[in-house]
Amino acid sequence: MNRVFIKTYGCQMNERDSEAVAAMLRGKGYSIVDQEMDADVILLNTCSVREQAEQKAIGKAGHIASRKRKNPNLIVGVMGCMAQNRGADLLDSLPDLDLIVGTQKFHRVPEHLENVIASLKGQGPRPDTIVDLEAEDGSQNTIDTHLEDGPQITAFVSIMQGCNMNCSYCIVPKTRGPERARPIEAIVEEVEQLAANGTREVTLLGQIVNQYAVREFPVVDRKSPFVQLLERINEIDGIERIRFTSPHPVGFREDLIECYARLPKLCEYLHFPMQSGSDRILKAMRRPYTVERFRRIIDRIREVCPGIYISTDVIVGFPGETEEDFELTRQHFDDIGFDMAYLFKYSVRPGTTAEPLGDPVPVEVKEERNQILIDILGKNSLTRNESLIGSVEEVLLEGPARRGEGMYVGRTRGYRKVIVPASPRLVGQLLPVRIEKATISSLFGQLVLQEE
Ligand code: SAH
Ligand code: SF4
Ligand code: F3S
Repeated sequence: MNRVFIKTYGCQMNERDSEAVAAMLRGKGYSIVDQEMDADVILLNTCSVREQAEQKAIGKAGHIASRKRKNPNLIVGVMGCMAQNRGADLLDSLPDLDLIVGTQKFHRVPEHLENVIASLKGQGPRPDTIVDLEAEDGSQNTIDTHLEDGPQITAFVSIMQGCNMNCSYCIVPKTRGPERARPIEAIVEEVEQLAANGTREVTLLGQIVNQYAVREFPVVDRKSPFVQLLERINEIDGIERIRFTSPHPVGFREDLIECYARLPKLCEYLHFPMQSGSDRILKAMRRPYTVERFRRIIDRIREVCPGIYISTDVIVGFPGETEEDFELTRQHFDDIGFDMAYLFKYSVRPGTTAEPLGDPVPVEVKEERNQILIDILGKNSLTRNESLIGSVEEVLLEGPARRGEGMYVGRTRGYRKVIVPASPRLVGQLLPVRIEKATISSLFGQLVLQEE
């Protein structure tokens, strides 16, 4: 009963949490399998950010739980944001769950699993569902283990948990709790360990990374704790590239902007959520900035780092979003010229301050607005990619591409995906690639032969 399959929904934080759970379970002698059908234990790490994300996970959990009729020893657990959000109420629709584990309890999964397995082996009646959702002091410090089967060329590192903002549409503060930072030393140690095992690139994760430890640690030489952390990671031998996600316009100050000129390992790529291009809607969303302020920050970053690649998040169809509001979003979205974006149709989340506003923008209108932004994005992204044809880009080779014999996939510093013929021994290296072909989402090229 020791083969575990973990399916992850949601954001990079969740991916990171799943990895940490996998590493902890592996440490206890479980094996992590790639195929659901091979597993004795199935864990779903869930997301609540939109209704659809929850429905997907509930559907999946129901489907898996029905397999218990044939295989009564199958163990099924739900972890993460939806577990936290819905708690024991999940049992109304999914009475067969063995585990419901919240976002501050990932590190307890091995212990809970052991208990479920022990009682199944005891031949007694099946135990009640274990529901573990309490807040736990210091839980942000428990997501620090990584799987160590071969080098993880690029790795996520959670530097904090939770969120203290109050965006009116967002459920994350409820599912993830208040902001809690890990100490700089612990993060540095984790990254050093990763580097020693072959990791070349780290992405620092938090709901608002630039707010990292603002309450816990002092500003030193006018540098925020987040900037101090970036400086420390920039010093670590073996790490070649640093990324982070997501920052917020609030607290995006000169000390952070200058990092793009000063820290050679910080990649020329920024994910910078705008959410809307209308000040009226931003206010209703409780996003405490204006579009002008948002754009000033981007202008300043582009001064310091010309050619930086910028991506964003936008929600269309927030309650009260008129044609005029959307037109402002469209204009700013087009003017700024994002290289990538995650576009979301507004979804009402229970318990948020926007919930009482309902969902007055019709689905078709949301679809239409979404499509308009997709089209702009496609055009921008293709233009940007095509502009690279003929140039040589530094690519970190991550591993075999999904399709094509002998083809490998890597990324540029600007986070563009590159497909290139290569060999296994080059995985993990930074290689010059001449770009020959471009689509909206990918670049294709050839290695530039280096003198040995
Ligand atoms: N902490 C990050 C966002 C995390 S959630 C930040 O503030 O930038 C990821 C994205 O999901 C958000 O940026 C937002 O665009 C989208 N999102 C959050 N709640 C949503 C909702 N109720 N409906 C639609 N999209 C939503
Ligand atoms: Fe949600 Fe806003 Fe916090 Fe981001 S900053 S996680 S959108 S509440
Ligand atoms: Fe991430 Fe979804 Fe939770 S976006 S923080 S998994 S609600």
